[in-house]
Amino acid sequence: METKIYGRTTIAEAAQKLREGELIAFPTETVYGLGAIASNDQAVKNVYAVKGRPSDNPLIVHVADKDIAKFVAGVPEKAQALMDAFWPGPLTLIFPMREGVFAPTVTAGHTTVALRMPDQEQTLELIRQTGFPLVGPSANTSGKPSPTTAQHVLHDFDGKIAGIVDGGETDIGLESTVLDLTNEAGLVILRPGAITKEELEQVVGRLADLETAAKDGEAPKAPGMKYQHYAPAQPVILIEGGAEKWDVVIAKYRSEGKRIGILASEELLDRYRDEADAVYSLGAKAEPQRASQRLYAGLRYMDEQSVQVILAEAYEKEGIGIAFMNRLEKASSEKYPV
Ligand code: TXA
Ligand code: MG
Repeated sequence: METKIYGRTTIAEAAQKLREGELIAFPTETVYGLGAIASNDQAVKNVYAVKGRPSDNPLIVHVADKDIAKFVAGVPEKAQALMDAFWPGPLTLIFPMREGVFAPTVTAGHTTVALRMPDQEQTLELIRQTGFPLVGPSANTSGKPSPTTAQHVLHDFDGKIAGIVDGGETDIGLESTVLDLTNEAGLVILRPGAITKEELEQVVGRLADLETAAKDGEAPKAPGMKYQHYAPAQPVILIEGGAEKWDVVIAKYRSEGKRIGILASEELLDRYRDEADAVYSLGAKAEPQRASQRLYAGLRYMDEQSVQVILAEAYEKEGIGIAFMNRLEKASSEKYPV
């Protein structure tokens, strides 16, 4: 199959393909999604197959407006306020599900459904022209970093999907915040993202903690969080602290004769660029949102270099830095200092 690149002027053709049950990747403000029409069970099954995704990990349904009462079993009181405050935007809400609206495979046997309205005009137009919501897991092979450019999607799926709507580099670079509205203990964040706990609490008051919102003695999780996340073939060492820490780690791997890759801020690279065999800049240290935007591209870049160890710079765990560190910790095998 030839994977066609679509743009602003060819959205109608991409929508036609989706209606026919084909897979089309689309840009969002977070990462690219692998789209299929949410009413066609065979198309949705193909999404799982192409990604190599476990069949018990449900998909996010992408909608083009906030008028979702017709899709879900009920809109909890606080949901409307959240949608008004953050949609379109990088917030996925988990609603109680009404049977028979979406193809059964979408929710993978769960009694809830994840919905999100992306902040990307081309993709909203794609959903409108398709005439029905689209499933959209991140458009990467399971186990690879999520894609932040159309080229990343092509790298993983060239020849395997009908097309990609090219919207350029995504703005945020990390997947949406996932908020569960169906837990008895209260609203709970299942996955951190660009919309922070503090921002959500300004709209709906205190959230429950993931740990204390236990159901049947087990902490609720996004089903996807239990799977092995992206980790490069080479060990990633997460380094917290300044030059004194970096000097030690670099000296260690140098003495072992290892080829070193460094994924870090401009400031850090200014000092260590000559010591590394490959570098990838995460931008200025004062701009964690830039580091977040570039993280997955950096990990994909390092995968293609012949380095034996990747040293990555830790950022403050505040604001977007919480989501950034959540993803980087999943990719890393060690911390220094431990
Ligand atoms: O930013 C994003 O959310 C991107 C873009 C493309 O929209 N999509 C994305 O999809 O990251 P995916 O499939 O890679 O991650 C969806 C996460 C998974 O961890 C999944 O387990 C969780 O959402 N999820 C989906 N449906 C759920 C449900 N009913 N209950 C709890 N978690 C759910
Ligand atoms: Mg994903």
